[in-house]
Amino acid sequence: MSTIVALANQKGEIGKTTSTYNIGVSLAKRGKSFYWSTLTLRPA
Ligand SMILES: Nc1ncnc2c1ncn2[C@@H]1O[C@H](COP(=O)(O)OP(=O)(O)OP(=O)(O)O)[C@@H](O)[C@H]1O
Ligand SMILES: [Mg+2]
Repeated sequence: MSTIVALANQKGEIGKTTSTYNIGVSLAKRGKSFYWSTLTLRPA
């Protein structure tokens, strides 16, 4: 059983990637496996 968590905010540079990384580290320390991906959208 897996859980998908998404952190999203239209504003940039507010800590989405940092928070996602830290959540992953916390899960790993608890023996959980995780797949971590980030997406950065920028106007063309
Ligand atoms: N809790 C925090 N306290 C202080 N600085 C922080 C914190 N979280 C993130 N930062 C800093 O803010 C900057 C932006 O963080 P981050 O790259 O995680 O944001 P982002 O929302 O993923 O940005 P982007 O929209 O460009 O993908 C980085 O320099 C990061 O080190
Ligand atoms: Mg980011």
